[in-house]
Amino acid sequence: MSDQPPASAEIPDVPVLRALGNRRSIRYFDASRTVERWKIETMLQAARFSSCQGNINCTEAIIVTKDSEYWEDLEECVSGFNVQIINQASHLIIWLTNLNAWYGRAVDGISSLSIAGAMAKYHGWNYEFSMTQTIPRLMSFPTERTENLLRFETGQAVANAMTAGVGLGVGNILIAFGRKPGGVEKTFGLPPHYRFTWGHAVGYPLEGADAGGQRPRLKFEKLFHDNAYGTPFQSDPDTVEMLKEKGLIQPQAPLPGRIQEMERIAADHGRDPGVLYFPEREIERLMADEDWDFDEGWRERARDVLASQDLPDYPDEMRETFKQLMAEHGIDASKFLPAEE
Ligand SMILES: Cc1cc2nc3c(=O)[nH]c(=O)nc-3n(C[C@H](O)[C@H](O)[C@H](O)COP(=O)(O)O)c2cc1C
Repeated sequence: MSDQPPASAEIPDVPVLRALGNRRSIRYFDASRTVERWKIETMLQAARFSSCQGNINCTEAIIVTKDSEYWEDLEECVSGFNVQIINQASHLIIWLTNLNAWYGRAVDGISSLSIAGAMAKYHGWNYEFSMTQTIPRLMSFPTERTENLLRFETGQAVANAMTAGVGLGVGNILIAFGRKPGGVEKTFGLPPHYRFTWGHAVGYPLEGADAGGQRPRLKFEKLFHDNAYGTPFQSDPDTVEMLKEKGLIQPQAPLPGRIQEMERIAADHGRDPGVLYFPEREIERLMADEDWDFDEGWRERARDVLASQDLPDYPDEMRETFKQLMAEHGIDASKFLPAEE
């Protein structure tokens, strides 16, 4: 495959609202297709230009393919339910956060911005104050605090990369590496000031690029507050209509044929058919939950699952564990637990 990018005029422009709406976590990749190097670079360039505090550039990444000498070690670190995914993906992006960027690049980062015409006395910036107060104060943060701040930035960079990828028809999913804590850092021999922030599998979708519809979320008003906590920021039906036309809000999953698509892919790969189900009571509770924004297609599927599937029982041994966990977080567990027999 040529690594040459096509002429820019040949690359379809996808408006940003549509690219954001098109994004799905893709869990089935076409293992026979490799994402072009220019597309990977485009995603990384998008990450590079995401906003970063004081222009310190803390986000780095290692781009890995299956022929890498590190692949087997990485496979051992990835959570079990992600192994299939990475093995069908074209590339794995290991996103890293360099904590020393905070301590070692603050002066140059801000200096680069000042020359670039981004910082002005207008906003109160002045060299002496920056050097004697602002930068030393920032640099005195303990690493845990710095880590929190910088990982947030890496998240922004990753979101930029994913959006750019979606705009180019590339599928994405973030994947946990929970099986071997510290394993990724060890695999690559990372210096101690690096944090492995997240794994990101990239490839061409084997499933439809819409992955069977946009996944449900909580209601808008349950998430966003208007001027005061607890005052819902009301969604406007006209804005929702406009966003549907622009492609940010898309038909909700599961679209007709989605479950059959999953079954077909499983059969083609000799894997177990079937999807994950929760107990009847849990599904009924979720359907009745006012916080969630479920449309009729989702509800119909839930009713169909209730009527037709052999659903599991609640694992009784979890009752105490969940009670305890909920108590630790100050959450009333009664709604989440089945009635005591
Ligand atoms: C930080 C992060 C980590 C995630 N880790 C996993 C994962 O390990 N395995 C997985 O299958 N999905 C993972 N996901 C994907 C979410 O489960 C996904 O966002 C959710 O299914 C909603 O679907 P959507 O992304 O298509 O809207 C992760 C998502 C995020 C933001």
